[in-house]
Amino acid sequence: MTKLLLDALRGQTLPRPPFWFMRQAGRYLPEYRALRQDAGGFLDLCFNPERAAEVTLQPIRRYGMSGAILFSDILIVPMALGQSLRFAEGEGPVLGEVPEVLNFVGAARAYAPVIETVRRVRANLPTETALLGFAGSPWTVATYMIEGGSSRDFAKTKAFFYGDTARFTWLIDGIVTATVEYLSAQIDAGAEAVQLFDSWAGALAPREFERWVIEPNRQIITALRARHPETPIIAFPRGSGVLYKKFTEIVRPDCIGIDTQVPPDWAAEVLQPLACVQGNLDPLTVVAGGQAMLKAAVDICTHLKHGPFIFNLGHGIVPQTPPEHVRALSDFLRAV
Ligand code: CP3
Repeated sequence: MTKLLLDALRGQTLPRPPFWFMRQAGRYLPEYRALRQDAGGFLDLCFNPERAAEVTLQPIRRYGMSGAILFSDILIVPMALGQSLRFAEGEGPVLGEVPEVLNFVGAARAYAPVIETVRRVRANLPTETALLGFAGSPWTVATYMIEGGSSRDFAKTKAFFYGDTARFTWLIDGIVTATVEYLSAQIDAGAEAVQLFDSWAGALAPREFERWVIEPNRQIITALRARHPETPIIAFPRGSGVLYKKFTEIVRPDCIGIDTQVPPDWAAEVLQPLACVQGNLDPLTVVAGGQAMLKAAVDICTHLKHGPFIFNLGHGIVPQTPPEHVRALSDFLRAV
């Protein structure tokens, strides 16, 4: 059977959109919460291939999305490179100091369980479902490494790159190198497409955006394509606004993920001639459900259905989302 998600990624215009949802595995699902509790915690779950594969497949069993996304986290890369990482209950990730040297040699061994998860998911996937691997983009990963966790204004990271540009460049280059290896290993293990999450791309002024968002994403995609020319790459530079155009022109991903704020008619006109477009329903409409959710979904489909298009949210599903709303949305998308 052909995989509609891969057809769209390769540039086909389809009668109805393939779909998946960022953070489709996670706390809104009772079966996820049960397994996570049993595993000990979030990171234990990420490093347990059997359970991580099960969590990856949970939403597919319920809702039959066109794509399954590997259950893992973007912070696995800094951890594999030697930075300490833990997830504190209710406050998110907590990272130690940025390591003096990055442990490229040990990284592959450190993330080996995640690669094993990819293998297991691929072996147990329905034939019509595509397996997506992913990684964080260097700018976004660097913010967590330097801030030591989540941040509102990225003050430390900005002070760092203005104050010691050489060292920041060293860090970004190191993440580029590690990410190419990490995604390449995911593809070798069975990932059929990969997504780069640049969740905080929108925090940078235009000049810095070019240097720390456009350039590292371009380098990763160029290197990956040389090694895996058949594997489509989705870039998601969240919050890029009008810079989405320049990003797509220079980075040339196979697919560009758009956030909630991007007008779908603008994306159809400006971005879709350059790449498949993925997005962009506000995740909070899925909390609301009902007509508000379906109307917003219709709007997006109406504008983007004339070119290569993958339906997704503009950001991840939030924990308070009622699972039955995800079902209603999935059923709707199968019938449009
Ligand atoms: O279903 C999926 O989309 C696959 C799994 C996935 C997770 N994180 C699982 C996760 C993916 C693709 C990510 C990416 C990720 N991780 C991003 C980029 C996407 C985005 O949301 O912008 C970022 C910034 C992170 C870093 C991260 N991970 C933070 C800031 C947090 C804490 C906030 C939160 O939501 O709890 C996490 C934890 C995390 N990653 C959870 C899950 C399911 C929750 C952990 C738990 O079970 O408590």
